[in-house]
Amino acid sequence: MNRITVNPDRSIGTINRNIYGHFSEHLGRCIYGGIYVGPDSPIPNVNGMRTDVVNALKAIRIPVLRWPGGCFADEYHWQDGIGPKDQRKRMVNTNWGHVVEDNSFGTHEFLELCRQLECEPYINANVGSGTVREMAEWVEYLNSPGDSSVVRQRWANGQKEPWGVKLWGVGNESWGCGGNMRPEYYADEFRRYQTYCRDYPGTKLYRIACGPNTDDYRWSEVLMERAGRFMDGLTMHYYSTTGPTWEQKGKALSFDTAQFYELLAKAARMEEFVIGHSRIMDKYDPERRVGLIVDEWGSWHQVEEGTNPGFLYQQNTMRDALVAAIHLNLFNRHCDRVVMANLAQTVNVLQSVVLTDGERMVLTPTWHVFDLFKAHQGAKAADCFVECDRVGEGAWQVDRISASASEKDGAVTLTAANCAMDEATQLRVRVLGRRADGEARARILTAEAHAFNSFGDSPVSAKEFTGFTASAHFIDLELPPCSVIELTLA
Ligand code: AHR
Repeated sequence: MNRITVNPDRSIGTINRNIYGHFSEHLGRCIYGGIYVGPDSPIPNVNGMRTDVVNALKAIRIPVLRWPGGCFADEYHWQDGIGPKDQRKRMVNTNWGHVVEDNSFGTHEFLELCRQLECEPYINANVGSGTVREMAEWVEYLNSPGDSSVVRQRWANGQKEPWGVKLWGVGNESWGCGGNMRPEYYADEFRRYQTYCRDYPGTKLYRIACGPNTDDYRWSEVLMERAGRFMDGLTMHYYSTTGPTWEQKGKALSFDTAQFYELLAKAARMEEFVIGHSRIMDKYDPERRVGLIVDEWGSWHQVEEGTNPGFLYQQNTMRDALVAAIHLNLFNRHCDRVVMANLAQTVNVLQSVVLTDGERMVLTPTWHVFDLFKAHQGAKAADCFVECDRVGEGAWQVDRISASASEKDGAVTLTAANCAMDEATQLRVRVLGRRADGEARARILTAEAHAFNSFGDSPVSAKEFTGFTASAHFIDLELPPCSVIELTLA
């Protein structure tokens, strides 16, 4: 028997809504076609933003959106993306597919998108090929209420009031596509750049330093030691893949049992990295003032056949839904350090929540996981003790159950995934201090591991689940193979 014991009286803190964040880069069809179609498009839109996509993201209560990259961020010059569109500079997107970037989606458009989504903007600015002045002036353009030439430019472009953007990333993957820097060098660059990113009246910046790749603990150590006191957040990137090498990645839709468990086992490793980097941060920041920000995570598979290899377009199955559940559960359980996470990437790229094809749109299984988990946003994390065995094949083993719990407005929410590919799992849940035979509701997402939603057919979606019995102390349920549930005790 697998058991989960939830103790709402033991909490490590509040689950920051921003853990449920997303990431949108000028990459493939993420922005152009996926989010932005322009005001003259026949696809229904408001000021150029696709209405269907905006509604789909609002339905999962997207709290924060990161932009413009990614690797693209360190080649992006914000001045190219403001002013009359026909005068905006054209560039070739050398990171992603060598397509022409006409800069028709720039600062004003991004902030209009965030306004429509009612989410917080998180801008990742250019260190790799930019200048300190360029970054400083972007902050001024966005946030200054004063009367300077830079601000007058904003007025001329139709925005009188400052936007008050707080979340500010100083470089992306500066150890790689963002400049191939050493941590010692980047630590100094971060100190310098952030100095001139001013706090304007009404907006205190939350300064985010580029953190490590995966298990690069030395990067975290050097950054925290040399620049920890200048930052509010430190990023970390880790993607889940299958296959022997990065170049020989497995596919999104076709995989065998071993590859199913390989991906889940790789996803679960995120916890090891969160703990490892948190330990280093604890050494320099025992009060946990600096947040760990996992601003790129998710499955990364081979691109779908017949698509531009530089566009990173991939489909998304129930296996990826489990990857999402594993991550979100572990971020909840570490919410005393993890303050934001951004799934890569929102629409039409890696583990997207939405895919589009012309005017058609489809919600992926991953979208449904975000929907099942949304009650955790801003809730008080509840201690969630899981007793279960491991499932897997060969070297690839993973806990059978992934879970987390929270409490908000008197309701306790438990989210749990059955990571067994083809075995149902008996589960007994106890919520301490609560009668279990009160008002309990559940929703479930379940399908065969390879199931996915296509433009013609969407077989994967969450449904009400009544297959549980509640006695005074326990809720007993049988979780179908490959499933994710949300259980709520009112
Ligand atoms: O998400 C795709 C790319 O992966 C991002 O641009 C980059 O930051 C990371 O390497």
